[in-house]
Amino acid sequence: MTHFLWLTLLRAALAGGCITAVLPIQAQTVDVASAEKLIEDSKCGKCHSLDKQKDGPSFKKTAAKYKGKADAEAKLVTHMTTAPTVEIDGVKEEHTKIKSKDEAAIKNLARYILSR
Ligand code: HEC
Repeated sequence: MTHFLWLTLLRAALAGGCITAVLPIQAQTVDVASAEKLIEDSKCGKCHSLDKQKDGPSFKKTAAKYKGKADAEAKLVTHMTTAPTVEIDGVKEEHTKIKSKDEAAIKNLARYILSR
């Protein structure tokens, strides 16, 4: 009985803190529709798909590669915005840049890819 009382008190004490604790989690959610539209607008689908290897790795493969890495989102943002040199069938070319300057939308896309 006393245990139950303590739990109730503890829960009441934590309730206030929960409101602030939820905010950063919400900031990490993925807007799938926005991400998929950006992929379409930027024609990324020419070389990438969700789970099939095309000229570029599938998003699932990229998600697996970066799993558990803290800097994954930043790495992908850099990859998508700076046109690094990639090699396709032995030919070096500039990677396609994302067609957006909206940082929030680009980060959302990075999280979308990482959560596949
Ligand atoms: C002409 C083909 C082509 C197009 C178009 C293309 N990519 Fe890529 N992408 C590649 C190749 C090839 C790689 C592999 C690079 C490597 O591993 O060296 C790659 C790698 C990636 C990676 C993984 C990077 C990493 O660090 O592992 C991501 C994410 C990615 N592309 C996203 C995109 C997005 C978003 C778009 C649309 C703006 C896009 N790509 C358009 C060919 C393409």
